[in-house]
Amino acid sequence: MAAAASHLAAGGLVAFPTETVYGLGADACNAMGVARIYEVKGRPADHPLIVHVASMDGLGEWAREVPGYAISLARDFWPGPMTLVLKRSSLAKDFITGGQDTVGVRVPNHPVALALLEAFESIGGKGIAAPSANRFGQVSPTTAAAVAGEIGEYLDSADQIIDGGACAVGVESTIIDCTGEVPRILRPGAITTSMIEQSTGIQITKVISSSNVGVVNNSGGVNSDWIIRVSGSLENHYAPAAKVLLCEIPTPGQGFIAHVNMETPAGVIRLASPHNDEEFAQILYSALREADAQGLKEVVVMQPIGIGIAVAIRDRLARAANGR
Ligand code: TXA
Ligand code: MG
Repeated sequence: MAAAASHLAAGGLVAFPTETVYGLGADACNAMGVARIYEVKGRPADHPLIVHVASMDGLGEWAREVPGYAISLARDFWPGPMTLVLKRSSLAKDFITGGQDTVGVRVPNHPVALALLEAFESIGGKGIAAPSANRFGQVSPTTAAAVAGEIGEYLDSADQIIDGGACAVGVESTIIDCTGEVPRILRPGAITTSMIEQSTGIQITKVISSSNVGVVNNSGGVNSDWIIRVSGSLENHYAPAAKVLLCEIPTPGQGFIAHVNMETPAGVIRLASPHNDEEFAQILYSALREADAQGLKEVVVMQPIGIGIAVAIRDRLARAANGR
């Protein structure tokens, strides 16, 4: 951890596990280090990055005018799979925020991520900027091997990938815009609408997501505006090479991802059989990667219909299906 922290302080890159997906980290105050994130990801430079901090104290450093409801969310769900977008302090430079006056902050809930953040802060670091450790537009990695497969060839020999096993949540954090009078969900995740409502005492009326773009949303759960502000909102984000088909009957030669109680038709390649929605989220990205590893052209996914983390799963799948 000490070696990884000093590598960050020197402008290097460290990929590390979080409970959601693996992140590709750089010192959030180091313009050169952050520039290398964009290079390695092949990501447009005006897309803002999430600043990861060791504790809620980081909020005061990176943000200003933090509303009461955001403090309540931070108290209830950090460390955890939630990113708060707040008005930025002078610490958050344009190279972090994509030139916006806001900054995304998160305290991840993973022992390795927290140990790295603490080691980094103990040598004077203020936070680690980290997007998901995939090439731009690709599926987020949920294992160290997937990170190496995605970006290994673009890293320097001194850069590091810390292996912390498979991520427990499996889909990216819930992003909540906390710059207005009420919270707005920019990206659904494991912290759900009802959890946010319970924590803040404020009713959430709209989910900003792409779930209803170009697909029929049969869940009744998500209905909303569509804004391209979050890079993950691009229609073809989170897409594997295989074509993703939603809720069709799979035919021979196609991959298939569905809850365990659905049978696999003859000749269909079963990629995953999760027992519940949490497990569905956990294995989704590795199952999509497996489809690519097997060279499958198409993969059929039976979407979960629930309103908890299933909302985030449908959101990502809608984009994967829109992709290629
Ligand atoms: O679970 C996660 O959030 C993972 C782990 C590594 O923490 N990180 C992640 O980062 O998913 P990334 O960069 O792949 O997605 C973060 C999203 C991007 O779509 C970015 O546009 C959005 O957060 N974002 C960051 N700062 C923002 C801001 N100030 N305003 C609006 N959106 C912001
Ligand atoms: Mg990402």
